[in-house]
Amino acid sequence: MLELAAKVHDESRQGEAYAPFAGDPTVYRKKFYIESYGCQMNFSDSEIVASILNGEGFGATRNLEEADLVFLNTCSIREKAEQTVRKRLTDFRKMKENKPGMLIGVLGCMAERLKAKFLEEEKLVDMVVGPDAYRSLPGLIEEAETGQKAVNVLLSRDETYADISPVRLDSNGVTAFVSIMRGCNNMCSFCVVPFTRGRERSRDAHSIVHEAADLFNRGFKEVTLLGQNVDSYYWVDEATQQQGETARAVTFAELLEKVALISPDLRVRFSTSHPKDITEEVLLTMAKYENICKYIHLPIQSGNTRVLQLMNRTYTREWYLAKVDQIKRIMPDCGISSDIIAGFCTETEEEHRETISAMEHSRYDMSYMFFYSERPGTLAARRYKDDVPEDVKKRRLQEIVEVQNRLSLESNQRDIGRSFKVLIEGESKRSNDDWMGRNSQNKVIVFPKGAAEHKKGDYVWVKVNSCTQATLLGEMVTA
Ligand code: SAH
Ligand code: SF4
Ligand code: F3S
Repeated sequence: MLELAAKVHDESRQGEAYAPFAGDPTVYRKKFYIESYGCQMNFSDSEIVASILNGEGFGATRNLEEADLVFLNTCSIREKAEQTVRKRLTDFRKMKENKPGMLIGVLGCMAERLKAKFLEEEKLVDMVVGPDAYRSLPGLIEEAETGQKAVNVLLSRDETYADISPVRLDSNGVTAFVSIMRGCNNMCSFCVVPFTRGRERSRDAHSIVHEAADLFNRGFKEVTLLGQNVDSYYWVDEATQQQGETARAVTFAELLEKVALISPDLRVRFSTSHPKDITEEVLLTMAKYENICKYIHLPIQSGNTRVLQLMNRTYTREWYLAKVDQIKRIMPDCGISSDIIAGFCTETEEEHRETISAMEHSRYDMSYMFFYSERPGTLAARRYKDDVPEDVKKRRLQEIVEVQNRLSLESNQRDIGRSFKVLIEGESKRSNDDWMGRNSQNKVIVFPKGAAEHKKGDYVWVKVNSCTQATLLGEMVTA
């Protein structure tokens, strides 16, 4: 998600790829290596893939050199994301020359978008597996081992991998993602996700609560509920239906509450909210529970109503800004972040300036910012001309990034002198003498360990003394 994106105050999640390790590699019959790109859903899916492969006697390795199976879990959101994957595949091509038995599988959104075409374009790829087809991986691996090319890109209406217990890869043991739904029914005209991830479906609420409780029992202190549009979570309990009762449905607000009730010491976050769907009920539930973090990622995309209409976002500028005001009214302390696209089809200079004024109004604590990248097959690609020249797109993006940098700094400066409850996630990257954690608003805080005996996963109170644009710096205080 990074290209030209100013990723602000996110010390622990920098970089697009990771090479995880799980389990004792000596007892497995084969070793696999998996690298993930794209959004948190993809990282979470890799943990499901690892669980399926573990069940078949394959063990994860961090060492590409010793892997028998190499998987790339890919992203199609922008052209640049696909280029990164292709570049990585050329590295693998070189490796395979010395190691012909090694099998290469492409998973995720790019696999879904390109389907069998991938095998024509990238001859070294042995398996192409879409996001709803991971249960078939063991069979596909067997097929590929016989020298055939193996493909499964079927999308499903009901697959949620609800019963699969993810293997936590590269985990800090404190924070974890829990996938609550898959797919997306919105048709934002710029977006490839509905095509690569299929129809929206919600995961069994019991299995979500069970997974979160299990994480807490294993020492985790924070779960992030994941979906492309979490506010449209809606799960009907068919067990009640079968008993002839009126079917009971669980909304997102109710799900949040159920997870929050597991323990006051388990923090709950969620991502992403679509501005059109986040309800007052969700905001009131957030306000009611201290352990539901006061932070909402609320992508605006554009601050101009005409552009929003072309984007098919189904809200206006005014509607969005009123939503921000409502959030601040109910939770004055709530952090808000955004996604912004510069230079969408036909966007004028004046419309671009409306995006900037909407940013100023919303006072985002941080944003992910992109210039528009046309994706084949999307509504925008079919209907509108990608007519904003690249240099204009990049200049507008640069202006947006500069405004956000200032807003992030101002937001951090407002926190100087305040004290926050912080969950320690680990040591600071820069120094073993410092801890790194987050406050409820999702801001990263770095502070000296001092003499006190604390460890990862502890809550401590930290007073902010200074800041950079990306990080708060402070010292521990007593609550
Ligand atoms: N489901 C989330 C976002 C998913 S994609 C939501 O609705 O907000 C993450 C972000 O990538 C989007 O919010 C958007 O800002 C950006 N994005 C998606 N398609 C894009 C494209 N074609 N060009 C540039 N940015 C894009
Ligand atoms: Fe894409 Fe819109 Fe769905 Fe988000 S809500 S995944 S931007 S179609
Ligand atoms: Fe990319 Fe697919 Fe996520 S396109 S952003 S990995 S849903």
